Amino acid sequence: MPQATKPRGRAHSGVAIVGAGRLGSALVRALEDAGVPVEGPLGRDAHPAAGVVLLCVPDGEIAAAAAALGRAGSRPERLVGHVSGATPLGALAAAGGQAFGLHPLQTFAGGEGAEAFAGTGAAIAGSTATALATARELALALGMEPIAVSDSERAAYHAAASVASNFTVTLQAVAERLAGVAGIAPADARALLAPLVRQTVDNWAARGPEAALTGPVARGDRATVDRQRAAVDRHVPELAPLFDELVAATAALARGDVTAPTPSTRAAA
Ligand SMILES: NC(=O)c1ccc[n+]([C@@H]2O[C@H](COP(=O)([O-])OP(=O)(O)OC[C@H]3O[C@@H](n4cnc5c(N)ncnc54)[C@H](OP(=O)(O)O)[C@@H]3O)[C@@H](O)[C@H]2O)c1
Repeated sequence: MPQATKPRGRAHSGVAIVGAGRLGSALVRALEDAGVPVEGPLGRDAHPAAGVVLLCVPDGEIAAAAAALGRAGSRPERLVGHVSGATPLGALAAAGGQAFGLHPLQTFAGGEGAEAFAGTGAAIAGSTATALATARELALALGMEPIAVSDSERAAYHAAASVASNFTVTLQAVAERLAGVAGIAPADARALLAPLVRQTVDNWAARGPEAALTGPVARGDRATVDRQRAAVDRHVPELAPLFDELVAATAALARGDVTAPTPSTRAAA
């Protein structure tokens, strides 16, 4: 890759990873692969020597890990980052250095390496221009697509990620239950529905939501939707409110009533 897209700044002098969990361990492997000198993964009460420290600890532990770094010695020139999607940079204040955030838009279950980062999005933030540049440098070194997300926009950004990833799983679990009502075993339901889900996601990614939408709600076929609703009510009534909300949201999308705020309308709000 050309030098211009992979700037060699502070991070290429060395990065300490604190936290030996799923993401921390994957980052150690991927950064080593990218030629970045890595210290760690380090545990509690570490005294990292690197000028860039990345805290890969649970969100609720970030402030404590930052405070531990601060107690280990104040180094105002040090860059301290976290990898949380939801946590503001203020959680790093006690570390005493410049703060940055680097949140991979990917899920890590354990054992991944560089391949898991390549081509994925990364929300970056920094308390100073140098901190933001360091987050960008790390993202590019890992082959990720960086996008700057400030603290004030972080909750909405993270909600988008949760809807896209977590709620998709929730919806598939609902589909699995309804398939069970039709006599299809869970493993069979997943095997049967997965190609449909993959093609739907591919269509949405390539064409946008309105063009990707098919099915009875989009066709205005009220009689079919009513039959589906009656089956839900008969067999899994606790899912009826969710079904109704999804029908309403899908109908609004089909009518073209759903508009996403653009960065310019958001700034004006
Ligand atoms: N996994 C993902 O898919 C994913 C994706 C994007 C972002 N993230 C972010 O990555 C961060 C870590 O998540 P994870 O899934 O990797 O968690 P994880 O697998 O639970 O690992 C967390 C690690 O941090 C260690 N730890 C806890 N408190 C610590 C402290 N005060 N000082 C040093 N180490 C400490 C834990 O050690 P013990 O086991 O000894 O407690 C554990 O090794 C979170 O901010 C999360 O939001 C995760």
